[in-house]
Amino acid sequence: MSSTLGVPRPDQASYMLRAAASDVGRLYKRQLVDLLDVREGHTVLDAGCGPGTDLPTLAERAGATGTVIGVDRDPAMLAQARERTRGLRRVEIREGDVLDPPVGPGTVDRAKIDRVLMHVDDPATALAQLHRVTRPGARVALAEPDWDTLIVDAEDLETSRAFTRYTTTEAVRHATVGRGLARLAEQAGFAVETVLATTPVFRDVEEADHTLGLGRNMEAAIAAGYVDRERGRRWFTGLAQGTFFASFTLVTVICSR
Ligand SMILES: C[S@@+](CC[C@H](N)C(=O)[O-])C[C@H]1O[C@@H](n2cnc3c(N)ncnc32)[C@H](O)[C@@H]1O
Repeated sequence: MSSTLGVPRPDQASYMLRAAASDVGRLYKRQLVDLLDVREGHTVLDAGCGPGTDLPTLAERAGATGTVIGVDRDPAMLAQARERTRGLRRVEIREGDVLDPPVGPGTVDRAKIDRVLMHVDDPATALAQLHRVTRPGARVALAEPDWDTLIVDAEDLETSRAFTRYTTTEAVRHATVGRGLARLAEQAGFAVETVLATTPVFRDVEEADHTLGLGRNMEAAIAAGYVDRERGRRWFTGLAQGTFFASFTLVTVICSR
C-alpha cells in the first residue's frame, strides 16, 4: 500500500472525481440521474455540485432549451466545475451556500444533492431551501452515506469498530444522515417516492484507502485517543496483507414536491 498513516487529505476535487469514476460511483450516480428523470427544457439544480461531476450529464438531458445550475461554496471546486463544463452554453456555475442558495423561489424542475448534507451545518435547512427553489411537481434526488455502516475486515475487530466510531463521532458532521434521509425529506414537505440503499464493496485496499481515508483517519483516531498508536499502526499495516474487504451503505431518496 503506497499510502501510510497520516497521509495528508487528498485534493478534494480529485478525490470526488475518482470516487465518482469507481464502479460503485458510476452505478449509484447513473441510477440517481435516471430516477431524477430530467427532460428537455428543464431547469436543473445540482446543489453542492463539487467539481461538476454530474453537470455534463444533466446538461445533456436538459437539452438545448434546458438550464443546469451548479452551486457550491468552494471556489476551487467551482473552478473545476467551470473547466469541466466549458463550452456547455446552458450551464451556470454559481458560488453559494446550499443553506441559502442563489436561486429564485419556485424556479427549478429538478434538483439533486449528493453527499453534501453530511457536511452542512443543518441538513433540514438545506432541504427546506430545496423545497423553496423547486416548482410544485418538481422531482428531487438525495444521496447520502450512513457511516455507522462502515465495516472494515481485520483480525482486530475492536480497532475496526473504534475506527468506525471515530469516523461517525469526529470525522463527519452528520455521519448518520443517510438513514434519516426519507424522514428529513418528508419533514421538508416532499413526498418520498423511492428509497434505495447501495452498498459499495471495496476489495482493493488502495482504492479503499483513497476513498475512505483509512490511513489518514486512523492517524486522526489515534491522535484523538480512540485507538492506541501501536495497535492502530498494526491494524493499518495488516489491512494490506491478505484478503481485503470493506463496505458502507449509501442511501438514495427520490421525492417530489
Ligand atoms: C463530497 S462532495 C460532493 C460533490 C458532488 N455533489 C458530487 O456528487 O460529486 C461535497 C461538496 O459539497 C460542498 N459543500 C459542502 N457544504 C456546502 C454548503 N453548505 N454549501 C455549498 N456547498 C457545500 C463541498 O464544497 C463539496 O464540493
